[in-house]
Amino acid sequence: MRRVAWCMVATLALAGQPVLADRTDAAKGPDGAGHDWYRMTPERADILKLKGRPDPGREAFRGCRGCHKSEGEGLIDGTYPRLTGQHASVIIKQVTDVRAGIRVNPKMEPFASDHAMSRQEIADIAAFLSAAETTKENGKGPDPGTKEGKALYEGRMCHTCHGARGEGDRIQAYPAVAGQHYGYLLREMEHIRDRTRSNSHPNMVRAVANLSRQQLEEIANYLSRLPDFRKAAP
Ligand code: HEC
Ligand code: HEC
Repeated sequence: MRRVAWCMVATLALAGQPVLADRTDAAKGPDGAGHDWYRMTPERADILKLKGRPDPGREAFRGCRGCHKSEGEGLIDGTYPRLTGQHASVIIKQVTDVRAGIRVNPKMEPFASDHAMSRQEIADIAAFLSAAETTKENGKGPDPGTKEGKALYEGRMCHTCHGARGEGDRIQAYPAVAGQHYGYLLREMEHIRDRTRSNSHPNMVRAVANLSRQQLEEIANYLSRLPDFRKAAP
């Protein structure tokens, strides 16, 4: 039964229909390979081969500052994510997913489209941001206690991908989540859980599938209170 349901979803995906239309089927989806949720687009593969240059990247980032702010610190309420210290591979994946229509972001699209940004500029911006630091505080969750959030993060095996310090994984393009804005963390986990952000890894979708709003708040609270992973002890 499971298999039949999954085949239907896969067939819809091939026909160009929204892959995640059926929540139940998507939750049962198979792992990894060839999966549309975590696709390597030709553009991403191309950009990953380019050498990113931080100085031209700082210049090219001017076009992004209107939202992500002068140092790439984003907005404290989480409307715009913090991009400093994010892996170059993740920046490149997210921007190219927006360009390919895999991650829907109508606000940002005009600024990141191929009319606005060349492939080399994306590589440069990614190199700049991954090394950049900000002095600006991030938006923290409301609870100074992080025990519950930490227990959930570890108990749900989130650390196997996002790391014990929230450092993510550069090679796999798993985002660093430490010190991100609380509001952004919470919103993204909800969007991934509810399938409105459709470019995630299927195991990521599965990991948050059964978490309540309150549990997600506790996790977001914990992650928002972790220091920049580049400064945290291993
Ligand atoms: C008009 C506002 C706006 C502009 C300009 C903008 N962005 Fe964004 N960006 C957003 C929003 C909003 C999000 C979060 C979307 C969401 O919640 O799914 C985002 C998300 C991102 C992410 C994903 C971060 C993550 O952790 O997944 C990256 C990377 C990014 N932007 C890079 C850029 C770059 C590079 C530029 C310049 C070329 C740019 N943005 C310009 C609004 C903007
Ligand atoms: C299989 C590895 C994997 C597991 C397990 C996993 N994630 Fe993720 N997570 C990802 C990937 C990959 C993305 C980015 C997806 C994309 O490219 O759009 C992501 C995105 C996120 C984001 C949004 C980050 C951003 O910058 O936009 C948050 C927050 C997050 N995960 C938290 C969690 C939590 C909490 C858990 C455990 C309940 C978890 N993840 C389990 C791989 C994983």
